[in-house]
Formats: sequence, C-alpha cells, structure tokens
Amino acid sequence: MKVQILPSLLAADFGCLADEIRRVAASGADALHLDIMDAHFVPNLSFGPDVVALAKRVSPGLFRNVHLMMTRPDLYLDRFIDAGADALQFHVEADCDVWQGLAAIRRRGVRSGLVARPQTPAEALYPYVPLCDEVLFMTVNPGYGGQAFMSGVLPKITALRQYAAARGFPGLDIMVDGGINDETAVQCAERGANQFVAGSFMFRQDDMSAAVARMRGGCARAYGTDTR
Ligand code: DX5
Ligand code: ZN
Repeated sequence: MKVQILPSLLAADFGCLADEIRRVAASGADALHLDIMDAHFVPNLSFGPDVVALAKRVSPGLFRNVHLMMTRPDLYLDRFIDAGADALQFHVEADCDVWQGLAAIRRRGVRSGLVARPQTPAEALYPYVPLCDEVLFMTVNPGYGGQAFMSGVLPKITALRQYAAARGFPGLDIMVDGGINDETAVQCAERGANQFVAGSFMFRQDDMSAAVARMRGGCARAYGTDTR
C-alpha cells in the first residue's frame, strides 16, 4: 500500500490561492485535498466547484481529492467531477442513497470515497467497502481546520483494516483527516491508515517539501510499507 500525503487547501492563504496550489504541487505531495462545506451538514461554508477547476487549471498534474461535507452530496457529484475531481468522497451520514452515490462516482471513472464522522462507528461503513476505493475517518468534528486530533478514532482504523483484509479488500485506502501532524499521523499509520490529510500543519511550514517527505517517511515506517 502506498503512503500518501494530502495537504488540505482549507488552510491556505485564500488571498493567493493559485500560488498556494502551486506550492502544494511543488512540495511533492501526492494530492491536494479540497474541503467542500455547505453550511448545513457542517456549520461552515468553504468553496465550490470553481476552486476545484482552479486547481486543475493551475496545476493539472496534481491529483484532486474532493471531500464533500454536504447534506445532499448526490445533487452535486457531477458538478464536482466536471470541475476536475479525481477522487470524490461524501459522508455516510449524508441524506442520500449511499450505494447509488458511490456507484455514480465510479461510473464516471473517478475514485469513490466514503467518510465517517468521529462519532460514527466503523461498522456503519462495512456494507459499502466493496464500492469504495477509499474510506476517510474524520479525526476531528468536520467543519473547521486547526482542531485537536481525537485519538478515540484510532480503534476504528484497526477495525476497518482488519475487516477489509478479511473480506478480500486488502487494497482499500484508509485516510485520516483532522489534527494531523507528524506525531498523530504516525499513530494512525501504526493502526493501518495509509493516506494523511494535513491542513494547518502543512501550510504553516516554511518548507512544505521537507515536511511532506518527513511525514511520508515516518508514516511508511509506522505502516510497515517495506514489510507488507
Ligand atoms: C475539516 C476538514 C479538514 C481540515 C483539516 O472539516 O475536513 O480537511 O482541512 O485541517 P487541519 O489539518 O488543520 O485539522
Ligand atoms: Zn477534509
């Protein structure tokens, strides 16, 4: 399994978004994470498909991982795919048909992802594993960057990794998002997460390239990439 680092654009300087996107591309990060908030599913608004399209225009080679925090993601899947989403994730708690949503994403040739809030048990995701390319465990309550990591989520990573392996999905990507830094990323990697979203931690670095390389190395060692 590949260990991947995804800086979250939510923590960027919105006064110079294009430069911030180029900074992520130049850092060697594996993808850009884009947080879409509808002020209903979460108590905050962020940005919409135009910013996904901007990322595609300024850094076409940078993979775009789009995290929908929306009550009705099903109504917007095509708009985000048309704008340039390479992976599209929505919440299992959303008010829509999860099967149809995941299938609709895959039909468009985009990677499908399902997300769980910290309070949602891992078991809520199990039925959908066959239709998911990746699963995202929120390690903060979704809605804002800069919050503290919730270590109570860690057992869910272990449980899902074991479940997926036992059911014939050893290649399922498990992502974590919220309060991720060098230490918390390693804790998640030890439990079997292999994709790491980091917003405020990455964007406050003077040298994002060094931070990406360091986090990737630490997580790969903890995950055990060399031995699996
Ligand atoms: C929170 C978002 C996160 C956020 C993470 O709802 O889903 O992607 O950007 O920010 P940090 O890394 O600052 O916790
Ligand atoms: Zn996110």
